[in-house]
Amino acid sequence: MKTRPNMSYGSDWFLWICIVIIHAPLGNGDLSYTIPEEMERSGVVGNLAKDLGLDAKTMSMRKARLDLDGNRKLFCDINLQTGDLVIAERIDREQLCSSRASCFLKYELVMENPLELHRTTVQIRDINDNSPRFPNDNINLEIGESAAKGTRFPLGEAHDSDVGRNGIQGYSLEKNDHFSLAVHSSSGGTKYSELVLDKDLDREQQQEVTLLLIATDGGSPQRSGTTVIHVNVLDANDNLPVFSQEMYKASLSENSPVGTIVVIVSAHDVDEGANGEVTYEFSRISDEATRLFSIDKITGEIKVTGQIDFEEESNYELGVQAKDGAGLASNAKVNIDITDVNDNAPVILIKSLHDPIPENAVPGTEVGIINIQDKDSDGNRHVRCYIKQNVPFKLNPSIKNYYTLVTTAELDRELVGDYNITITATDEGSPQLSSSKTINLSVSDVNDNPPVFEEQSYGAYVSENNKPGSSVCSVTARDPDWRQNGTVFYSLLPSEVNGVPVSSYLSINGDTGVIHAVRPFDYEQFRSFKVQVVARDNGSPPLSSNVTVSVFITDENDNSPQILYPTPEGNSFMTEMVPKAALSGSLVSKVIAVDADSGQNAWLSYQIVKSTDPGLFTIGLHSGEIRAQRDISESDSMKQNLVISVKDNGQPSLSTTCAVYLLISDNLAEVPELKDMSYEEGNSKLTSYLIIALVSVSTFFLTFIILIVAIRVCHRRKPRLLFDGAVAIPSAYLPPNYADVDGTGTLRSTYNYDAYMTTGSRTSDFKFVTSYNDNTLPSGTTLKRSPVDNSDCLNFSSLDFTENGSKFSTLVNYLNTFCKDMF
Ligand SMILES: *[C@@H]1O[C@H](CO)[C@@H](O)[C@H](O)[C@H]1NC(C)=O
Ligand SMILES: *[C@@H]1O[C@H](CO)[C@@H](O)[C@H](O)[C@H]1NC(C)=O
Ligand SMILES: *[C@@H]1O[C@H](CO)[C@@H](O)[C@H](O)[C@H]1NC(C)=O
Ligand SMILES: *[C@@H]1O[C@H](CO)[C@@H](O)[C@H](O)[C@H]1NC(C)=O
Repeated sequence: MKTRPNMSYGSDWFLWICIVIIHAPLGNGDLSYTIPEEMERSGVVGNLAKDLGLDAKTMSMRKARLDLDGNRKLFCDINLQTGDLVIAERIDREQLCSSRASCFLKYELVMENPLELHRTTVQIRDINDNSPRFPNDNINLEIGESAAKGTRFPLGEAHDSDVGRNGIQGYSLEKNDHFSLAVHSSSGGTKYSELVLDKDLDREQQQEVTLLLIATDGGSPQRSGTTVIHVNVLDANDNLPVFSQEMYKASLSENSPVGTIVVIVSAHDVDEGANGEVTYEFSRISDEATRLFSIDKITGEIKVTGQIDFEEESNYELGVQAKDGAGLASNAKVNIDITDVNDNAPVILIKSLHDPIPENAVPGTEVGIINIQDKDSDGNRHVRCYIKQNVPFKLNPSIKNYYTLVTTAELDRELVGDYNITITATDEGSPQLSSSKTINLSVSDVNDNPPVFEEQSYGAYVSENNKPGSSVCSVTARDPDWRQNGTVFYSLLPSEVNGVPVSSYLSINGDTGVIHAVRPFDYEQFRSFKVQVVARDNGSPPLSSNVTVSVFITDENDNSPQILYPTPEGNSFMTEMVPKAALSGSLVSKVIAVDADSGQNAWLSYQIVKSTDPGLFTIGLHSGEIRAQRDISESDSMKQNLVISVKDNGQPSLSTTCAVYLLISDNLAEVPELKDMSYEEGNSKLTSYLIIALVSVSTFFLTFIILIVAIRVCHRRKPRLLFDGAVAIPSAYLPPNYADVDGTGTLRSTYNYDAYMTTGSRTSDFKFVTSYNDNTLPSGTTLKRSPVDNSDCLNFSSLDFTENGSKFSTLVNYLNTFCKDMF
């Protein structure tokens, strides 16, 4: 484009162009052109020829050329053919003028002929050919998350090579949550920006923020440049550790072993590094729980460290604290429920006990009070209580866990004196626990047993002539009661024997029960008697029982035979007449003897110890009958003397002798010769004695018969003593000291024997039957040894023994005396 040369320069190029266009033709030869940068080569800037008012030929002839100050490139040239100023080389304003606001190329147009000089100015106009550019593609920022709102972070300036409107006109920030952009103009006119924190950063939410910063110019079309801002949010300890639960609940059974993990608490701290390192500790814990639980600082494991006992505490509440490295902490609670385990056996307590209990306690008597306790809970404390043994006691449930121990049956101390009552208590836990306790209960005595004799009756045999004070027998009674209730004392029950108090015969040792004889006994006087012994205990009141002791006196050979006929030597003069015609075997005479003893002691035997003619007479060994041994002949001496010994069968035996005078004659006239027969005594009195004797015997018999008849009439009931020929001796006649002690008794057959009495006449001999009334002997009347025997006591439990031989002995005694009296 062709403009008029203008001498003045305007700062405002647009305005300046208008002025050039108006005033160019009015210039004084200076030329001025304005072109945009980056024009094509050969592009026409202006027509110099025309602007100078010259013809193109003229210009070429005048060798018009352009000169530039300095050695720089020309950029422009003159087309001499057309006179145009053309672009010779691309012009980059930014290269040429950098950031200067105006950019000129100043030429001098030189023409020769005449030398003419025109100043030509080409102003290079900027076009928006550069975009704003940031120094770096990335901007890295590190901002602490704790940064306060409004904090500004300067950002680098962007650069645009273009100038003026084409330069940086502003910045903008991509839309985001946290930041805004503040744009400022510097004193130099450039613009810069700052990042402003609008909203708190949270590293835990967003660790990095990426922003796009845009710089824009004012060109048209507008150009922009961007850079990426990387904001790295730096951590601050802005977070508390946070427990996963506010309240941890755990249940733990008692007796859990040490080391058992109860619960694990855990807290999380979202902070980083030390700020996020959580440690745990108890913040609130009772002293007791301190011994039982521990917490692991690092893992948060709560463990058992002691003996957990439900019975002590059933629930623990602990406070736990989690703390991070910088000391921020938070709390939570741990609640531990202890569950019961059946670890306590029931305990049996004896609250009261009546010991001892008297044996007469009625069934149902309360003996003691038992209390059962179990420290466990629920089912573990339900207790069953019982007695396993078979004892007369039971437990009655009373209020709550109390039981009463009562008797169920009658007690007997003499059977069971003490009881070990084992009480067992079992709870209902699983496994069941039980315990037991033994009660010693003793039964105290009551005097409920009388003494009992070992035998139902006692018998004792005592030899007559015993020593006074000798022991006769001993009785024993037992009393099972205790101590004085069972202590037995013996005594004799007062009674009479033959009219004499029994105490004059016997005494008893009150402690031992040994019975002693007080005086000697005489079998011939009485043969037995009975006493009652009483055993009495020492209770209050005392109990007693009695027993019969029968004392039997046994015979001793203390009486020698007594000869009744003939009368003993010296007292009598008796001669038997023997007929001269007496044949062999005929009875000549008879010796009668008796013995006051009984049995063997009274069994008599007869012997001829001396005779005039030893071959002529014999005597029956037991009959005492003297018989001719051969026929008597004339040559035999008229006078025959025999000495006869009578001895009993006792040990040792006792004996007596007597003499028998025999006269062999048929005629009393021969009697005077008898005087010669007497050896030592006055034979002159023989005849008178004989007469007296005959008269006496006759009188005796007469009296005897009368008496018998009289007694028969008066005492029909009395048993009679029979002789051959119906002659009886009345018992009433017998002397009092020979009284029949027991008339009902009978002599046993072993004691029977015959006694023969001779009156001196062959016709008057009779047999004395002592074994009478056999039918009265009771059956079973046998003398028995007691099965439990001691040395001198016999048991007559079933025997009513009476003195069988007494009657016989009495009779013999009577006869003995009678005969003595007679002769
Ligand atoms: C009770 O026990 C004691 C020892 O413990 C024993 O000597 C006694 O015989 C027992 N009594 C009963 C009645 O079992
Ligand atoms: C029971 O008796 C035995 C021995 O007889 C004794 O050892 C034990 O202590 C007694 N028990 C009681 C509770 O009296
Ligand atoms: C004897 O029995 C009585 C009751 O009859 C009783 O009171 C007393 O205690 C008993 N004596 C002994 C030593 O047991
Ligand atoms: C002796 O015992 C019997 C029963 O055994 C009794 O009937 C009698 O009365 C007792 N006598 C005396 C004196 O105690």
